[in-house]
Amino acid sequence: MKLFEQVNEAGLIQVAHAIAPSCRPGDMICLSGALGAGKTSFARGLIHGLGWPETHEVASPTFNLVVQYLTPDVRLPIAHVDLYRLDDARQVIGLGLEDMMDDHLLIIEWPERWGQDLPPEHLRIAIDGTGDVRSIAISGASSWIHRLQQLKVKL
Ligand SMILES: Nc1ncnc2c1ncn2[C@@H]1O[C@H](COP(=O)(O)OP(=O)(O)OP(=O)(O)O)[C@@H](O)[C@H]1O
Ligand SMILES: [Mg+2]
Repeated sequence: MKLFEQVNEAGLIQVAHAIAPSCRPGDMICLSGALGAGKTSFARGLIHGLGWPETHEVASPTFNLVVQYLTPDVRLPIAHVDLYRLDDARQVIGLGLEDMMDDHLLIIEWPERWGQDLPPEHLRIAIDGTGDVRSIAISGASSWIHRLQQLKVKL
């Protein structure tokens, strides 16, 4: 199942907000797309949609690689991850994601860097384009299919 949207930045945030209520502990959302495609913008929409106050910053995890949101503001623990700077898929082990996988929502930018061990059960958001309007393709593994069908109604 695949959903496809053409959106400006506000529309991209709206799509993220529409997905947020479907997220559960243990979920993984992979954001793919070229440099500057809008992965962090989408993650911001998702994190705010999960309760992080709009007045609070969502920093890009480009340098820290993993930024967690654990305060009572958010509906579930979140780890926002950027794997761009990894040279080797084996470095994923050092990030401690295994320990977060059961009870966090993992939002992963540059999931390709995880290599073959990327857990297959995830929602994939592929963002493409460079202008004001970007395309978003949303596809999901089995546990997401039903949720995506509901999403189609909401989008
Ligand atoms: N329709 C749109 N959707 C998303 N971002 C848009 C859109 N139109 C313009 N932009 C701009 O594109 C940029 C997207 O930057 P962002 O940091 O989200 O990209 P990224 O995919 O996370 O890049 P990186 O690979 O460096 O992490 C922002 O400056 C944003 O304002
Ligand atoms: Mg980014």
